[in-house]
Amino acid sequence: MMPRFISLEGSEGAGKSSAIETIQSVLNSWKVPYVITREPGGEPQAEKIRDILLHSDHLDAKTELLLMFAARNEHVVKVIRPALASGKWVVSDRFVDASFAYQGGGRQIDLTILQFLERLTVGQTMPDLTLYLDVKPEVGLARAAARSDKDRIEKEQLDFFYAIRNAYLERANQNPHRIKKINANCALSEVNESIRQTMVRFQESMNG
Ligand code: TMP
Repeated sequence: MMPRFISLEGSEGAGKSSAIETIQSVLNSWKVPYVITREPGGEPQAEKIRDILLHSDHLDAKTELLLMFAARNEHVVKVIRPALASGKWVVSDRFVDASFAYQGGGRQIDLTILQFLERLTVGQTMPDLTLYLDVKPEVGLARAAARSDKDRIEKEQLDFFYAIRNAYLERANQNPHRIKKINANCALSEVNESIRQTMVRFQESMNG
């Protein structure tokens, strides 16, 4: 089997951690080698940038944008491309769609700037499949509230998360073959079953 690149997206409380476990169990059942990674981060320098991004008191929106893409560039160059080249599947907990949602939708950064940075850092290294866990902000934030400390971005207000969701939905509509929307408003067991089925369909379409 050719190695594939899968990304996982969703706003706060969408159930990404549990989704990662499901993806892992599917890949284990397929007996393919893989790496699980995340953004921002996934590589030592990028993890340092993550710390600045999530734990600074305040960052200007343009600084946030540039740091997200700086971290992504290190991650693509040092982790994602080498893993795929060595025959491993890559599963990334968030990737470039998150910038279109959070920096584009949430922070209102111009689309052409995002597209330019995407071309500069990601290039052809786009995911083959993106699982987007779509959750209503109220449902997601209620789930996330059960967790402990909130980071800088999680402290934003409800309308910020509505803007993120709309941007994700728009991006999913523009990329229907790559981005598969999964209803994440229901019980996690149902969400995980949808993920499993989506991965099987993806694999069949790749083989067929
Ligand atoms: P996490 O909650 O999935 O660990 O992600 C960390 C935060 O970073 C989350 O609030 C989403 C945000 N983020 C962006 O704003 N832009 C990006 O490009 C990425 C990858 C994450």
